[in-house]
Amino acid sequence: MIADLLASQREGWSLERPFYRDADIYALENDRLFPRQWSVVAHVADLPQRGAHVVRSLFGQEIIVVNAGDHGFRAYHNVCTHRGSRICKGDGKSPMLVCPYHAWSFQLTGELKTTRDLPAGVDPTQLGLHPVACREIGGLILCGLDIAAMPSLDAMEQAMLPTLRQHGIERAKVAARRSYPTRANWKLVLENFYECYHCRPSHPEYFRMNGHIAATAISDPAAASDWEEKVAIWRAGLDDAPYNREIRVAGGVDEARFTTYRHPIGLGRRTASRTGDPVAPLMGGFTDYDGGETALHLGMFGFLGAYNDHAVLFQFVPIGPDETDVVLTWFVDAEADLAAIDEDALTFLWDVTTRQDKGIVEENARGVDSPAYRPGPYTVLEAQTAGFVSHYAAMMRTLLSRDSGTQDPLRVVA
Ligand code: FES
Ligand SMILES: [Fe+2]
Repeated sequence: MIADLLASQREGWSLERPFYRDADIYALENDRLFPRQWSVVAHVADLPQRGAHVVRSLFGQEIIVVNAGDHGFRAYHNVCTHRGSRICKGDGKSPMLVCPYHAWSFQLTGELKTTRDLPAGVDPTQLGLHPVACREIGGLILCGLDIAAMPSLDAMEQAMLPTLRQHGIERAKVAARRSYPTRANWKLVLENFYECYHCRPSHPEYFRMNGHIAATAISDPAAASDWEEKVAIWRAGLDDAPYNREIRVAGGVDEARFTTYRHPIGLGRRTASRTGDPVAPLMGGFTDYDGGETALHLGMFGFLGAYNDHAVLFQFVPIGPDETDVVLTWFVDAEADLAAIDEDALTFLWDVTTRQDKGIVEENARGVDSPAYRPGPYTVLEAQTAGFVSHYAAMMRTLLSRDSGTQDPLRVVA
C-alpha cells in the first residue's frame, strides 16, 4: 500500500493524506528511516565537564549522552544491561553511570565495572551499555540509533567545520532554550520550514526584518534580481573565506544531507535581534559586523541560523504521527554576561516566528486530516519544500525496495 502511494506520488505536489497521519507509515519511518538519520541532540555546553550527562529522546528512544573526557562524547540507550532499568532519570554529572536498581556501574566509555556478583561463565565484556552513534562536530553533538548503518559524517564535517568555527559555536553557551510542541506530522513541520511563501501572510515581523523575502516570499522578478544583486555586492566585499561558500548535498539513506550558505540579513540590519542592533558580544572569528546570516542544515532534523553575535539552533523532533516537538536554543559567546543580555531582543524574531509556525502548521494538519484533502501543487516559491518531499519519497522507495547495504549515488547539487 505504501509502495502504491509512493508510485502514484506526483513530483512537485504535496504528499498523499496517509503520509501525514497514518500510524503504519509513521511506524515504518520509525523502524527504517529515522534510525539512519543523524540528529543534533545537544551542544557541548550542555555537558561541560567530564562525567556530565544529558538524557534526551531520539526518535522515541531515550538516550544518555555523556562527556567521557579524553574519550570524547559518547551516547548509550538509557537501558541497564542487567535487567533493563532506566539508568539516568535526568541530566547530571557523575564519574560513572550507576543504575539505581541494583547499583551496577558502568564506565563513561560504556564498559560494565561491577563484576563481583556475576554468575560464573558470564562475560562482563558482553554487558557494556548499548551504544548509540555519537559524533561531535564544531560544538554540536549528533547522534543516530542504527550504529551499524549510519551514513558517514565526514563530508558534512569537512564542509561545516570552518563555518561553525567562524561562528564560534564550539565555545558558545546557551542563553535561552524553548520548546514549541506542534500537533502535526514532522513532514508538515519541515515542509513549512523549507519555504517562505507563507512569510508575507503569516510572519509580518519576519517579513519586515529580512531582505531575502524579496526573492523568497513574493513573486516579483524585479525585486528578486535587485536582491540577488545586493547579495552579490555583499559577498564581493567579504574575504573569500572557506566558510563563505554555498554547499548543498542532497543526501539519501546512505549519506547525510547538509547545506550551508550565507547571505546578508539586509535592510541595514547588523544582526537578527528585535531592532537589528547588536545584542551580544561578537562570536568566533568575527571582528566586526558584516550583517550576515549563515544557514546550516545539519541532516534532516537540525538547522542552525548563525549571525555575528548569536546563533539559533532548531531541533525538529518527531514524537508520533501527528506530534512534533520543535526546540530552539539561542547561543551567545561563552564570555558573554548573560545578565547583561536583553533576552527579549535576542529571542524576539525566532520566538514570534516559531509560535506563528506552530499555529499555521497545526491548522495545516487539521485540514489534511479531512477526507476532502487532496495533494496540492507547490509553487515556485516552495521549490525547497518540493525538493524535501521528493527526497523523502525517494528515500522511502529505496528503503522499501532493498534490505540494506547498497550505496545510493551522492548527488551534489551545488
Ligand atoms: S537493572 Fe540495573 S542494576 Fe539491575
Ligand atoms: Fe514560517
